[in-house]
Amino acid sequence: MKKLHLITLVALLISIFSFAQEQKSIYATMSLSDALELKKDLPEEVEILEKRRNEAAVYFTEHAGHFLHDKVLVHGPGYIFKSSREEAIAALYKEIREIPANRMPFTITEDVLVNQALDLINTQNIEDHILELEAYGTRYHDYAIAIQVSNDLKDKWEAMAALYGRTDVSVRLFNHVNTNMPSVIMTIEGADTPDEFVVVGGHLDSTSWDNNDAPGADDDASGIATMTESIRALFELGFVPNKTIEVMAYAAEEIGLVGSAEIAQDYANNNVNVISAVQFDMTLYNGSAIDVSFITDYTNATLNNYLMSLMDHYNATGDHQVTYGTSLCNYGCSDHASWTGEGYMSAFPFEANFGQHNGDIHSPSDTYSLVGSASHSAKFAKLCTEYLIETAKSNILSVNDNEASTISITTQNGQLNYNLEASTSEFESLSIFDIQGKKVSETSITTKRGSVSTQSLSTGVYVATFTIDNKTSVSKKFIIK
Ligand code: BES
Ligand code: ZN
Repeated sequence: MKKLHLITLVALLISIFSFAQEQKSIYATMSLSDALELKKDLPEEVEILEKRRNEAAVYFTEHAGHFLHDKVLVHGPGYIFKSSREEAIAALYKEIREIPANRMPFTITEDVLVNQALDLINTQNIEDHILELEAYGTRYHDYAIAIQVSNDLKDKWEAMAALYGRTDVSVRLFNHVNTNMPSVIMTIEGADTPDEFVVVGGHLDSTSWDNNDAPGADDDASGIATMTESIRALFELGFVPNKTIEVMAYAAEEIGLVGSAEIAQDYANNNVNVISAVQFDMTLYNGSAIDVSFITDYTNATLNNYLMSLMDHYNATGDHQVTYGTSLCNYGCSDHASWTGEGYMSAFPFEANFGQHNGDIHSPSDTYSLVGSASHSAKFAKLCTEYLIETAKSNILSVNDNEASTISITTQNGQLNYNLEASTSEFESLSIFDIQGKKVSETSITTKRGSVSTQSLSTGVYVATFTIDNKTSVSKKFIIK
């Protein structure tokens, strides 16, 4: 009898040992019901560390993770990655900050600018950008190419800001602990209250059951392209926000919201005042009778209602008509959940009602040509633009429709002549940027009429940017023939 026990014990130890050897395991939190079901199916591979309310901290093999994904949910893995046992358990006990009621009156006041911006949204740009991201192949967070993708997006965003002469815009990489892939963050500094942040985000990584081929066009090149076009339209308009805008391309979403969780946690630790964060993850596939479906779980009702009233206001009829509805994701299925988890307001306008969405995500068939048309994404770019302008609000000096027409420039005999006499602003400098966004000259402005030499410029398109305080600017294009 005793001997038998000993044998059992040894066998058990060996099996635990070899289990730990063979299988890479991870810590995570998931819904309690999923955890219990998974434990029942794969008792050897799953350890429930702790339960609280309807959630559990779990330690399980990667194999069990895939099993959960296939069985319990029709989409992604269904768990939120944690880097250690302690973190997984702590996540269960995390007290989420209460969002103060009416901390921020969401208003609709910027009709002129918003309507101009909506006309500038260019569907072709969105398509081009999706194809560009898809062409990398698999953007799995663990692959070397993923780091390249982040660096290239940083360059692309920087060039875009420079092209429009934006000295108030910067782009940085956010390095992570739990992935080598950095996230990319563009910051448009608020002219009036820079400590208030308005965030939009999407994820830059992709995954697939065939990780040799995860083009991730819809999931989520489409979200990145949607936000990029919205920002380009704001730049073309010369929009300068009062609050700081941040555009985030998150790393490693597909393995459990890793990039966004680290960013949201960092912002919360530093008490960063994020007014709200809107997620764009999958905007390409037009699968429902309505265009936009607001995911109502793991998001904030006040923010959802506000976005719906923006759409009632700007998208009810006409050229920019977009319809909407609501549905549930049933899980913290994308990066909005990271912000919600840190006590920030978040929303997730999604491509279709849940269940009618693109069924080919996480597969080699998630390509632009198979999924849809960027005209569906363009509707989300419009919503993104409305949200950014109305939440961040326009700085008065940035109202470019008047200001731009009060500045005139001409080129003649190797000179760029400017006339600011009709303008009420006191511009301090004139910078010239080439088409790559490189600054080629900067001149201080002392009189309302003046000129700068263009002799050294080769033929091509340039942008002349008149700036006050290094912040507010008005840009005009010119051509050297
Ligand atoms: N884009 C998906 C989320 C999604 C898929 C939302 C289908 C609605 C319908 C995202 O990239 C993803 O796969 N998320 C995972 C969860 C996450 C914690 C890894 C998921 O949906 O399970
Ligand atoms: Zn996604």
